Amino acid sequence: MIHLHPRGQVTLLEIDNPPVNATSQAVRQGLLDAIERLDADPAVGAIVIAGAGRTFTAGGDITEFGKPPLLPHLPDVITRIEACAKPVVVAWHGTALGGGCEIGLAATKRIIAPDGSVGLPEVKLGLMPGAGGTQRLPRLIGPVAALDLIASGRMVSAKEALALGLVDAMAAGHLRDEAIALAESLIGQPLERLSARPVPPADPVAWDAMVAKVKKDAKGRIAPLAAIQLVETARAEPFASGQPKERATFFDLMASPQSKALRHMFMAEREVARVPELAGIAPREIGHIGVIGAGTMGSGIAVAFLDAGFSVTLMEASEAALQAGLDRVNGLYLRSVKSGRIDETIRLERLSRLTPTTEIKALAETGLVIEAVFEDMAVKLDLLGRLGAALPAETIIATNTSYLDLEVMADALPHPERFIGLHFFSPAHVMKLLEIVRARRTSKEVLATGLAIGRRLRKIAVIAGVCDGFIGNRLLARYRAQCEFMLEEGALPQEIDAALEAFGFAMGPFAVQDLAGLDIAWARRKRLAATRDPAARDVPLVDRLCEAGRFGQKAGKGWYLYVDGKRQVDPEIDALVRSHAAGTGRAQRSFTTAEIQSRVLTTMVNEGAHILAEGIAARPLDIDLVLVNGYGFPNWRGGPMHYADETGLPRLLAEAEAIAARDGQAYAVAPLLRELAASGRTFASLNTPDR
Ligand code: 3HC
Repeated sequence: MIHLHPRGQVTLLEIDNPPVNATSQAVRQGLLDAIERLDADPAVGAIVIAGAGRTFTAGGDITEFGKPPLLPHLPDVITRIEACAKPVVVAWHGTALGGGCEIGLAATKRIIAPDGSVGLPEVKLGLMPGAGGTQRLPRLIGPVAALDLIASGRMVSAKEALALGLVDAMAAGHLRDEAIALAESLIGQPLERLSARPVPPADPVAWDAMVAKVKKDAKGRIAPLAAIQLVETARAEPFASGQPKERATFFDLMASPQSKALRHMFMAEREVARVPELAGIAPREIGHIGVIGAGTMGSGIAVAFLDAGFSVTLMEASEAALQAGLDRVNGLYLRSVKSGRIDETIRLERLSRLTPTTEIKALAETGLVIEAVFEDMAVKLDLLGRLGAALPAETIIATNTSYLDLEVMADALPHPERFIGLHFFSPAHVMKLLEIVRARRTSKEVLATGLAIGRRLRKIAVIAGVCDGFIGNRLLARYRAQCEFMLEEGALPQEIDAALEAFGFAMGPFAVQDLAGLDIAWARRKRLAATRDPAARDVPLVDRLCEAGRFGQKAGKGWYLYVDGKRQVDPEIDALVRSHAAGTGRAQRSFTTAEIQSRVLTTMVNEGAHILAEGIAARPLDIDLVLVNGYGFPNWRGGPMHYADETGLPRLLAEAEAIAARDGQAYAVAPLLRELAASGRTFASLNTPDR
């Protein structure tokens, strides 16, 4: 865990705990023992702390969180490092995060590799730094910059760390050699300890602005607000009284449902990539892909692949449509340059990997072709037939459909085992979620390739089975219907949106529908009309809105009115909803925020349980990741299935039964929900057993 490498008067202490040198109990103990030994050894003049492998350390060991803390505690180890009678230099490479950054703050000097980065990301786990970070960092870089880093959790590059004064030097050549030289130069010099330094004064205007920004960005999360409090403490109190306050906050937050949910998200994001049945199956190497359809979705997909280093051939049916698509791709890149995300050289390099075409045969040299054409089965079947004839048998063919039946599409292709769904979310180059839809005949190699591509795109790739809407859109259709049912019982769209926004959703479902365009929901309703059970509860309000040209934001009106881009409640909609509701003959009443939230959340969970039982999603965590990363579900609530466990399944079951009693055939209580509630188990128990 800890290796010591003497180099003259300096000893290099190396933390070695793969994969990311987390400061687990063994590392903490090893560090403490080593520091005590080196401090006592008269032959040692100075110490360098470095990390083995790819990173300095990713900080506290997340697998220990939520369990009884094990001695020695990291703050005590760090206090001991700071108390060392000899100079200590920290050599940061890779990422120095959380406790890794805090170890550095206890050192005499910090040096970083040019491609290294450093940060205090605890807030992303619903926590605050717990080993002195909130008290030492303001003393080093000032309270405004410290609050920014602590409350946002963002990592800073070596260059920014140097500019902020967070490091003393950036290595020009060999990090460890330079760290050792720096340590040597400090031997015999007076040692300054950060905890003894006062926090430099802040410009009151800048401080107030940063506090306001942190409060605004918190959006329901408690940890960023704790950051304000703790940096205030650092400004007002000596380190000796500030640190226990920081520690107490750390433990309070650790016990909070928000941190539990965010830690569940962190683990789920990593767990989702582990698919036991694909163990040992090598994905195909693919460097060149084809995209058919250069509309909003197709061009976004092309940009996502170009950004990840692939070559892309973009195909459209006509020169005019192709040009419009290229304009879209160019527009996205110009915007990225304007916002400073990339520079001109990168833009040109990425565009150099894009080949436009109107010829299907130009796709023959690619390893994977994704169709993103109009969402209509006849259009897709015609295209797939042509692709089957024009492309080699081994070319993987993917569809970006959001709802259509992949089994029917696979029938249109020779070698259907190479067919897969890659369901991107708009804008495809930004949204983290990728549903990988597995049809009955999709081969394991093709599935593994889909997952590998998702990883290369840096997406959260979740495998889904075939059904109407897969995981995300199927849940969405269910809970949206439940929201419309509430409109028939006395609720108004703005009340439902407000209740779900108060829960933490980025936007309520009616506002989202306006943003996406109501014509999408309308087209789907028409498509499903023929097969809809006439006895099932159905709310035709979307039809009325679309018939009146209220297609949403793009039409300036939908469920709301949009004046100068601002959403406004429209009395006409209130009247329409009220008159429709009265016409149903249903009892009218007002809804509380909690009632609305409970009905929507229960509906999601119930449908999630159906999806699990049918094998459409492999694990509850897959559903949580889909809803959080594609549908605006607040990550600090951990996704619907985690939320269900936290709420208690018996309570949810009772609510599901009440909804079913009201909605009749439209709502079947999931047997899995009944089973888990009856046996006292949780959805989490269906995730990997050792989690
Ligand atoms: N503790 C335990 N395991 C960790 C870990 C941590 N802090 N950070 C990462 N890991 C594990 C991951 O779970 C993963 O395990 P797996 O291979 O079994 O799935 C493995 O390390 C590799 O991680 P990634 O797949 O995430 O690798 P990347 O290269 O994509 O990212 C990273 C590396 C940037 C370090 C990223 O893992 C990360 O952001 N980690 C979390 C960092 C963090 O939040 N640190 C703060 C911890 S809290 C703290 O320090 C408290 C202190 O203030 C007292």
